[in-house]
Amino acid sequence: MHHKTIIEPFRIKVVEHIKMTTEAEREAFLKKAQYNPFLLHSNEVIVDLLTDSGTSAMSSNQWGGIMQGDESYAGASSWLRMEAAIKDLTSCPYVLPTHQGRAAEHLLYNQIGGKGKVFFSNTHFDTTRANIEFSGATAIDLPSPEGKETAVSHPFKGNLDVAKLAENIEKHGAENVAAVILTVTNNSGGGQPVSMANAKEVAAICKKHGILFILDACRIAENAWFIKHREEGFDEKTYREIAQEMFALADGSVMSAKKDALVNMGGFLALKDLDLAIKCRTVLIITEGYSTYGGLSGRDMEAIAVGLQEVFEPDYLDYRIKSTAYLGNALNGLGIPVIMPIGGHAVYVDAKAFYHHIPVEQFPGQSLACQLYLKGGIRCCEIGSVMFGKYDEDGKLIPAPMELVRLAIPRRVYTQSHIDYVIETFKALLDVQEQATGFKITYEPPFLRHFTARFEPV
Ligand code: F0G
Repeated sequence: MHHKTIIEPFRIKVVEHIKMTTEAEREAFLKKAQYNPFLLHSNEVIVDLLTDSGTSAMSSNQWGGIMQGDESYAGASSWLRMEAAIKDLTSCPYVLPTHQGRAAEHLLYNQIGGKGKVFFSNTHFDTTRANIEFSGATAIDLPSPEGKETAVSHPFKGNLDVAKLAENIEKHGAENVAAVILTVTNNSGGGQPVSMANAKEVAAICKKHGILFILDACRIAENAWFIKHREEGFDEKTYREIAQEMFALADGSVMSAKKDALVNMGGFLALKDLDLAIKCRTVLIITEGYSTYGGLSGRDMEAIAVGLQEVFEPDYLDYRIKSTAYLGNALNGLGIPVIMPIGGHAVYVDAKAFYHHIPVEQFPGQSLACQLYLKGGIRCCEIGSVMFGKYDEDGKLIPAPMELVRLAIPRRVYTQSHIDYVIETFKALLDVQEQATGFKITYEPPFLRHFTARFEPV
């Protein structure tokens, strides 16, 4: 028999209490948080879809491993296990542990960036862009044309536009290109996958020009699911083999272990070049910790070693991708504009299309994030002009290309009934669509403003 219901391929051994709140309570909480969901307390939230990062539920095997964490300062066995798992996956001989992804980004991009340097990517994630710009370099997004069309269906909307890449290398001069970064899956571009063919083309162009090719691999297992099921020639390969094949194309990778390593904290930088590894390692020891733990405890490293095995289990990945699609397809069925097809870790709602009466200067995505919290206690994140907007010389907003709201699904945390509750909340929002108002920013910091900005309804 073929079952339609996607059951979670795990049983729940430990539960975490959720505090139920009323709409009136949430109205007060939201006001106190100055309309920025990042400033809410987690116990004011019913379903937390702010991020899939560091929010995974660990398995009994990971918790078992944690008790065996070796907390030695140097050469801990937990480090050796983590290092071996990463070497096997990435084919990189040099692995640098870091406390999370952005620390690895900082080590590498600060080393190879700086004034006059340029980076290209399918889409730079916000911390990636911030680290590059902080070094003085420029980050240029080159998503494929399909990736910019929210409603167009394409199997690999996360791809990098290789024609534009070649043009841009010509324009800026290969010697000024610090690296090409392929983000798999493409988070800011809708959680959309990158094909192996695209990765191969990018690798070939980089090789031809002697440019460093880096994978931002934090969701590479999810990306491998899409390759196996959508790209010709991969259905006989395992998810792990597909990931290994993609890693092998790159000169190195940064990974936030808080995603596909199924842990709450951790990351790494893996490199093939000894010289570059030594330079980064020096800064690692100064800023993060000794080279066999980075910013991690032994138990963290143990959990990463186990998580990097578990994430490639077919039952897990199948449930993961299909349960994200379950939410996205249900919203699409209600007529809610979502990026199609549904990505791996999140559903992205096109807030500009949903709230067409709110101008981009008034942040329709922020408005939708606030409405979801108000009606359902659901927390999510704007990925639009609050996150990526800039100002021109006259202080006028240069909006982001898209005004999205991301419903990121923590791994192994929520059941189908939590997701049905989210769908129900969206149904309720359809009835009060026209009543939603825009926002203005009353405070913002110079970098990564979405985390701490404050708002007022207009
Ligand atoms: N690269 C990508 C593609 C990411 O999605 C993230 C984090 C990072 C790098 C940085 O990793 O958080 O461990 O320092 N993304 C989280 C998110 C924060 O919500 O999407 P980190």
